[in-house]
Amino acid sequence: MKRENRPSIAGAGILVTGGAGFIGSHLVDKLISLGAAHVVVIDNLFTGDESNLASAVATGKCTFYKDDAEFSTSLDYIFAKHAIELVFNCATKALNYSFVNPANAFQTNTTVVLNLLEIQRRGGFKTLCHFSTSEVYGTAVYEPMDEAHPKNPTTTYAAGKAAADHAVESYVKMFDLDAYIVRPFNNYGPRQNYKGYLAGIIPITAFRILNGITPELHGEGLQTRDFIYVQDTVDAVVQLHNVLPAGETVNISTDNQISMRDLLQQIFTLMNYQGEVARKPERKSDVLCHNASNEKVHGLIEYHLTPFDEGLAKTIAWYQQTIKRSA
Ligand SMILES: NC(=O)c1ccc[n+]([C@@H]2O[C@H](COP(=O)([O-])OP(=O)(O)OC[C@H]3O[C@@H](n4cnc5c(N)ncnc54)[C@H](O)[C@@H]3O)[C@@H](O)[C@H]2O)c1
Repeated sequence: MKRENRPSIAGAGILVTGGAGFIGSHLVDKLISLGAAHVVVIDNLFTGDESNLASAVATGKCTFYKDDAEFSTSLDYIFAKHAIELVFNCATKALNYSFVNPANAFQTNTTVVLNLLEIQRRGGFKTLCHFSTSEVYGTAVYEPMDEAHPKNPTTTYAAGKAAADHAVESYVKMFDLDAYIVRPFNNYGPRQNYKGYLAGIIPITAFRILNGITPELHGEGLQTRDFIYVQDTVDAVVQLHNVLPAGETVNISTDNQISMRDLLQQIFTLMNYQGEVARKPERKSDVLCHNASNEKVHGLIEYHLTPFDEGLAKTIAWYQQTIKRSA
């Protein structure tokens, strides 16, 4: 199917899997602000939180189902009840989960998308936007990593995501489905899970400082990441919806490389923290560097990137308001 025939977001019935999560909930807000007729969310609240959908539900345009998109029957009853034209697939279990339950981390990433592709193949909806991840590339073979960079996943999380990408591409080729892939790099911003071992470095560091727990650094902290503000990601996704051909993938990233060590320092400054840092052993299979090429996305849409200092300050302010001191 050509993108000229793709339904617009305005006026559409939309399903967001994993929509109570970090990126998904910002996307839900964005879809509603763009005039979506109705947004349905399925999320098992593995890391997601219903409070992330409070503003969306308050509009009367969002329905939330606490259920598991790995069960095809859970999707079946939603499709039977709601007229859905577009699906944004954000459901996943956090990367860190793959260190404790490698098989299920892989399975969630593949089963949910296969369930959706089967529904789409039977005509259940028109267009699938699938969320990939920069983790599929593994450590850079060349830099900056463009969309043609080889996939070398180093965790079962990333292996499942890479398999999901191949599944989407093959269904497009085999059945002429209208599905495209967005591939975000590391996101940060309000609503990112801060609880427990599944939390990413920014939320967990903020959480620890706010609760009087010593922040941690793995290895020398020289591994670098390319952090993008979550609002910039969802702005890019909704624009890409209008232009990205079926079967194509696009990186969503910034030009900012920051080392974990420097990142912690910036958080400490913002939070006025002058205490110790606990040094932890380097994690095997942590990729060393993620330096993205965002040439393709720049060529496709109006691409706005929030300066890192500005985004980080907003993010830390959100954690300061949201995380209650437990001590
Ligand atoms: N956050 C990032 O830095 C980042 C970077 C690259 C790609 N991505 C991708 O973006 C998407 C969204 O990621 P996120 O950061 O918002 O993660 P998140 O963990 O905040 O959101 C994922 C949501 O999926 C839900 N979920 C898990 N298993 C489910 C299941 N079986 N059925 C229904 N819901 C389920 C979780 O409860 C959670 O709310 C994912 O596909 C992820 O791979 C994220």
